[in-house]
This record gives sequence, structure tokens and C-alpha cells, in this order.
Amino acid sequence: MDTQPIIATRGLTKTYGNTPVVNNLNLEVAPGVVHGLLGPNGSGKSTTMKMLLGLIAPTSGEITMLGQPMTAATRTQVLTGVGSLIEAPSAYPHLTGGENMRIATRLLNADPAHTQQAIELVRLENQMDKLVKNYSLGMKQRLGIAMALARDPQLLILDEPTNGLDPAGIEEIRELIVSLAREQGRTVLVSSHLLSEIEKMASHLTIINQGRCVFQGSQQELYDAQLPDVFIQTPAASIAAEVLRGLHPAPADGGLELSGLTDEQVAEVCAQLVSHGIPLHQVVRKRRSLEEVFIGLTGREALSA
Ligand SMILES: Nc1ncnc2c1ncn2[C@@H]1O[C@H](COP(=O)(O)OP(=O)(O)O)[C@@H](O)[C@H]1O
Ligand SMILES: [Mg+2]
Repeated sequence: MDTQPIIATRGLTKTYGNTPVVNNLNLEVAPGVVHGLLGPNGSGKSTTMKMLLGLIAPTSGEITMLGQPMTAATRTQVLTGVGSLIEAPSAYPHLTGGENMRIATRLLNADPAHTQQAIELVRLENQMDKLVKNYSLGMKQRLGIAMALARDPQLLILDEPTNGLDPAGIEEIRELIVSLAREQGRTVLVSSHLLSEIEKMASHLTIINQGRCVFQGSQQELYDAQLPDVFIQTPAASIAAEVLRGLHPAPADGGLELSGLTDEQVAEVCAQLVSHGIPLHQVVRKRRSLEEVFIGLTGREALSA
């Protein structure tokens, strides 16, 4: 990365008892991008974000944010440049949206002009007189994001901001997040356990599983790092599977499938099958979906998480 990262962690670790829930994480978030922190439930996303925000202390490791190392002495100052939404939004339900925003402005010592801009950005300007308990979940999330924006931060850390929203609400939050980076040049670190949400807003991804990083890079790099599966269509699938057993073929409709093969290996496989007199009707590279790549990295339980 040629530009200085906005967030960089080195060996970031959090252990509860003997269990590391965040394990030696080297997170790098480039400026001005939406960076997705993706992983199944319980993989350590919230714990990571809470350490970045100084809400819990790391067991070991270092954090640099906005170009400054985070220490007890610098933390308060560094965090003035960071807005966050962690777990459920924290607005007072029995107060109006406007009252909540005024409280946040005062508590955060924010410029009321920025707060007003934030309200307009999340399109709640006509809902300020309504009690928050009468807000929809999507409106509450937007209010939470407006509060996170109150101090006009360079960096936003949003923990599962689309959790529990209906598809229209998810789309709204997604567009808002993308515009925060694209039009306003802010950096957004956003977590989700759903790849389908992250892939539509984040250009860069860190995928964690059981506290460990299993992938970090751009979405394009994630695709490129994966060798597509090969489907071999043959009426003699069981004999072919026997010939290729060292490559762990999987049965497939009308033939079998192999994964992780280079182009040279595919050529060898074809030659080998032909030499055994096995008829090949088709040999096709199958591009895997990002979903399949994600499951390959994190395990099938990620689907039901
Ligand atoms: N205060 C805590 N004490 C013990 N274990 C915890 C605590 N907080 C989180 N954990 C455990 O750490 C793991 C990661 O949790 P979390 O960071 O909330 O995951 P995620 O946000 O990815 O769903 C989970 O197994 C969770 O049960
Ligand atoms: Mg979480």
C-alpha cells in the first residue's frame, strides 16, 4: 500500500480465558475506501472494533489509527476523528430524534452545523420531532449513523449497521455508506456476517474466521486468488473418479468436479483420462461465486450463522 493506512493493527489479540477470540490480526485499512470486516457470527468482528475504539483493552498487539499510535496518552485525541456505531444504536427511545441529536452534539462537543449536515445526510430532517421509540429500525440505524457523523469524523467504524433491516432498509444504509466514502472521502470500516451485503459496498475486505484473518485485499484479489473449479462431463464418472482419486474428485451431475487445479494440471488430467479410454464430453472451468469462496474460507457453518 503506497498511501498510509488509516487503520493498521499489528498482532492484535484478545484472549478471554484461554481462548483467543481475536488472534494476531494485522488489519490494514486504506484511506477513502469502504473496507468490509466479514466473518461468521462469533468470529471476533465486534471485539476487533471495540479494541479499535478503546472500549476494551487488547491482550497484546498494537493499533495505529489516523496516523497515530493508540496509547493511553493519545487515545482520546485520536478518537475525536472517529465516529462509531457499535451493536444497537444508543438513542434514548422516549426522546425525539432532535432531542437525541442535541444531546449527542453537546456530549461530543460537536459543531451544531455538522450535526445538522449529518441529519440531512441520513435524510432524517423531517423526522426530528418524532419520538425515537416510534422510529423504524432503519430510522434508528440512520440516527445512530448521524450521531457517529456529528463530529465530522474522517473515519467511521460501523458494526453490522444493516443487521435486522428489511431489504429496502439495507439498500438505504448501503447507499449511505458508499456515498460517505465516494462523495465525502471518508473511510468506513463496516462489519457484517453476510457476504451479500458487504460485497455490494466494500471495495476491500478482511475476512476473519475464529479470530484469524483468512483473507485481506480487494474484492478483485479475492476472486483472482481462487482457482475456479473444473467440471468434467463423462458417462464414465465412476471410473474417472477412481483414476483421479488422488485429486479428491467430487461427484457432479453428469460427471465430476475438481478444485484447486492449475491450467497445467487440467491438461494432465485430460491426458490421463483419455489414456484410460474414458470419453470426455466436456471439460469446463466453473467460476465460483464470491459466496462459495467465502464458505471455502470460513466453513459451511458461515451460511447458517
Ligand atoms: N466479554 C467476553 N467474555 C468472554 N467471551 C467473549 C466476550 N465477548 C465476546 N466473547 C466471545 O468472543 C467471540 C467473538 O465475539 P464477537 O467479537 O462478538 O464476534 P462477532 O462480532 O464476530 O459476532 C465469541 O465467541 C464470543 O462469545
Ligand atoms: Mg458482533
